[in-house]
Amino acid sequence: MDKLIIQGGHVLQGEVRISGAKNAALPILAGSLLATAPVKITNMPHLRDITTMMELTGGMGVRFVLDDQMGVEVYAEDIQRFEAPYDLVKTMRASILVLGPLLTRFGSARVSFPGGCAIGARPVDLHLKGMEKLGAKITIDNGYIHAKAPNGLRGADISFDTVTVTGTENLIMAATLAKGVTTLHHAAREPEVVDLANYLNTLGAKISGAGTDTIVITGVKELGGGQYSVMPDRIEAGTFLAAAAITRGKIKLKQVAPTTMLQIIHKLTEAGAEIQMDDNTISLDMKGKRPKAIRLSTAPYPGFPTDMQAQMIALNTVADGVGHVVETVFENRFLHVQEMQRMGAQIVLEGNTAIVTGKERLTGAPVMATDLRASASLVLAGLVAEGETVIERIYHIDRGYEVIEEKLSQLGAKIYRDHS
Ligand code: EPZ
Repeated sequence: MDKLIIQGGHVLQGEVRISGAKNAALPILAGSLLATAPVKITNMPHLRDITTMMELTGGMGVRFVLDDQMGVEVYAEDIQRFEAPYDLVKTMRASILVLGPLLTRFGSARVSFPGGCAIGARPVDLHLKGMEKLGAKITIDNGYIHAKAPNGLRGADISFDTVTVTGTENLIMAATLAKGVTTLHHAAREPEVVDLANYLNTLGAKISGAGTDTIVITGVKELGGGQYSVMPDRIEAGTFLAAAAITRGKIKLKQVAPTTMLQIIHKLTEAGAEIQMDDNTISLDMKGKRPKAIRLSTAPYPGFPTDMQAQMIALNTVADGVGHVVETVFENRFLHVQEMQRMGAQIVLEGNTAIVTGKERLTGAPVMATDLRASASLVLAGLVAEGETVIERIYHIDRGYEVIEEKLSQLGAKIYRDHS
C-alpha cells in the first residue's frame, strides 16, 4: 500500500497548474453515453476516478482514444450493454451518473446500488424519484437498480427535497431526450452542473437555467458530437491555496476559474492571506504571517464547499485564535479530526461543529486517510508539522488529486511516495 512521507516545516513558494475538475469530468464522461457522434474532451484530469468512469462506460461499448495532452476522443455510437457492475460502482459512487443517460437513450439501465461511504449514508433516493417522475419503472433487487422506460421518458416538473449535485446532473441528462419539457426546482447550482449543461448543449441539448435553482430542459430527438474543455478544479485550487496559507508561503495558481471559488477566496482572505486574481490565475501571499482562525459553515453552492471543510480545519489547527467549522451537508465528515488530534491538534467536536484552538506547532505522526478530502487535509497538516508525517491508505488521495506529491514538491515541500 502506497504511503506519503512528509517532512514538515518547509514554506511553499512558486507556481502550479491546476487540473481539470474531477467533479465536472465525471458527469461529462457519463453524459458522453448520449453522443451519437465522436466527442473530443480536453483538460481531462488524470485521476483514478476518471479511469474508473472510462472503464465503466468502456464496458458498455464506449471507445476512447487518449492523446498525450490530457485530451480524450469518445466514440459512443455503438453501446451494447447497459449495466454498471458492483465491482466498479463499489469503488466510485459517481457511477450512478450513468443511470440517466442509459435510461433516456436506450430505455434500460441496470446499476449496482451504491453502498454507504465513509462520510455519510449518501442515498440516491432523489435520483430514483426523479427518474420515476419522468416515467421510468424502477425496481431494486440483488443489490441492483433496474430502470426501464420502454416507451422513452416524458418531461415532468421535479422538485428536489434536498439540494443534490449528482441528482441534479443525473436528471438533467435523463431529461435531454425525454419527450417534452422538464423543469428541475431546488436544483444544485454548482459550477460543475453548469459545465455539464454547457457540454450537453454543445452536443445539441436544450438546457437553460444551469447555475440557478431552476433548470429547464427541452427534450430533443438525439445528441450529436462536438468538442469541449473541462472547467478547472476549484477544490484542487482551494487545496493548494490552503497549503500555501498553512505554511505561510506564497503561491500562484494557473489555469483556474476564480469566479467559481469566491467563498474559498473570501475565507482565506479572512485568515490573513493577500490574494490577487485575474480571469485565469490566483496569487496568494501570507507575507510570512501566521494565519488567523476563521469561522465557516459549509453549504451547497454558492455557499462554502463541503469539499474544502477538512482543509480549512487543518488551517485552523495552527491559526491564531479559536476557529469554528460547521458541516451541514454530510452527517459524518469529520473523520480527519481524530487523525489531526494524533498530530497534537486541539479540536473539540460538538455535533456538526468542530471547535479548533490553534497551536503554534503540530507534531508529525503516522496517520490514516479515510476519504478523499480528509486525506488532503492530512497532507496540509503534515506540511506544517514538526518532523515526519506518514499518511497511509493514500489511494483515497489519488482519486481526486493529480500527482499531488509532484506538484507540492515543485513548490518546495519535502514529500515523497513510498511504494513499499
Ligand atoms: C457531489 O456528491 C460531489 N461528488 C461530492 O464531492 C461533494 O461533496 C457533494 O456533491 C456535495 O457538494 C461528485 O460530484 C462526483 P449530493 P453527491 O447528492 O452528488 C443527500 C469529492 O470529494 N442526498 O449533493 O453525491 C446526501 O446524503 C466528493 O469530490 C440524499 O439524501 O452529493 C447529502 O447529505 C465527495 N438523497 C446531500 O444530499 C439523494 O438522492 C448532498 O449530497 C442524494 C443526495
